[in-house]
Amino acid sequence: MKQPIKTFSILIAFLLSGFFVAQGQEAPTDFLSSAFHKNRREALRAKMPDNSVAVFFANPVRNRANDVDFIYHQDPDLYYLTGYREPHAVLLIFKQQQTNQSGEAYDEIFFVQERNPLQEMWNGRRLGNEGVKDKLQISAYNGKEFAKFDIDFSTFDKVMFYDFQNDVRDNPNDPADLFSLITQFKTKAGYHTNTANLGTEPQKNNLDVRTLNTLMSELRGIKTPEELDLIRKAVFISTVGQVEVMKAMRPGLSETEIQGIHEFVFKKYGSEYEGYPSIVGAGNNGCILHYIENHKPEVESKEMILMDLGAEYHGYTADVTRTIPIDGEFSPEEKAIYDLVYKAQEEAIQMSKPGVTFGQLSATARSIINKGLAELGIIASESEQHLYYPHGLSHHIGLDVHDKGTYGPLEENMVITVEPGIYIPEGSKCDKKWWGIAVRIEDDILITKDGFELLSSFAPRTTEEIEKLMKEPSPLDQFTLPELKGNK
Ligand code: GLY
Ligand code: MN
Ligand code: MN
Repeated sequence: MKQPIKTFSILIAFLLSGFFVAQGQEAPTDFLSSAFHKNRREALRAKMPDNSVAVFFANPVRNRANDVDFIYHQDPDLYYLTGYREPHAVLLIFKQQQTNQSGEAYDEIFFVQERNPLQEMWNGRRLGNEGVKDKLQISAYNGKEFAKFDIDFSTFDKVMFYDFQNDVRDNPNDPADLFSLITQFKTKAGYHTNTANLGTEPQKNNLDVRTLNTLMSELRGIKTPEELDLIRKAVFISTVGQVEVMKAMRPGLSETEIQGIHEFVFKKYGSEYEGYPSIVGAGNNGCILHYIENHKPEVESKEMILMDLGAEYHGYTADVTRTIPIDGEFSPEEKAIYDLVYKAQEEAIQMSKPGVTFGQLSATARSIINKGLAELGIIASESEQHLYYPHGLSHHIGLDVHDKGTYGPLEENMVITVEPGIYIPEGSKCDKKWWGIAVRIEDDILITKDGFELLSSFAPRTTEEIEKLMKEPSPLDQFTLPELKGNK
């Protein structure tokens, strides 16, 4: 359905005004609370330098093709600070209280897209400034007010923001779309095109495109109880997906279909999105680290399949990988590689606690893998340079799958992945019997006061547990569909 041009829009806008106010909005209620977002704005303000202002823009709407856009996803920092999930918005947080022309004090201000019954009928509900005040408890104005908003950015010692991406589209009919908000900000703040080197050279003025990332990483890397509740849900959902797939796995399924089983489980639990494009690679496809085609029509009994999928639940994403044999039994070579990856992962998990560094975890896992590869004769010696384990061990998860956070010592309430892997593509310089074996085991752990909690324990990890679970029946064993007919 295409949206009609403006002819009858005024008329029906009038008829619709009030429609959305009257409609019930049955939606999940376990989102982050407005108190959480307020607390996070206060935490940011406490870290901000004197006489500074932080400026956050909503993510742009990104066009997919013609009149279809990609599903909208809010900028995680803006979401963290406000809970707002709509585009076309700018948030200003001030270190010191400001006073407006009427003498009223304020230390934050949020410009959001205004309500529009016709647009809302086609494209979904909007909160508008009143809804934002009411539901998110932030002082908000319609985006159009930003142009009139009397602010002299030159009076601040620092104007902190993220440098701009070049894919923000202008809607010439909307003077308060994101493009216009950014343009107005650039004019107000004196951000000129000759500052093209912003972010790479010292600033001549008060514009600062670096500090905000540091401050937000310090905040977002340590999770609060409300965030942990959502992360636990996202991780649990993702592990249930892995368990159901372990039961349903058999030769002849397609990679796409296997992806679909995981994602069906995600949706069944009310998870809105995948936190990143799902990776489902059988055999040699597992050697492509971010393999997202997932298009092999029939997985084969001689292969293993590597499945890296994370449900995103109310903004927070899990990141869980399991690698299983398609016929339900690990061959001796598969088991040798799997057990080596497991040993590296287990060692790194068990040593996780506050004070231990990311670097120490990584070095431990890498040294176990190198030693094991040498013992198996896949590399000549432990010190040989190789590409069989080409990625890092750990990253934060949260609103982003590779979430903001610091990467020195572990701290209580960080949530990180532990994900060693070994990938031996066909044609590698080792015995052919190893070719096409790719194993990653990825779990999500919470760093506690004196250790860790394994959040993703619902999905088994040892070869014995996996083989046992794969023998269990699946409801999908009975699920058949009519044949898809065509020329080929
Ligand atoms: N799923 C991407 C990663 O594991 O980092
Ligand atoms: Mn990961
Ligand atoms: Mn992953």
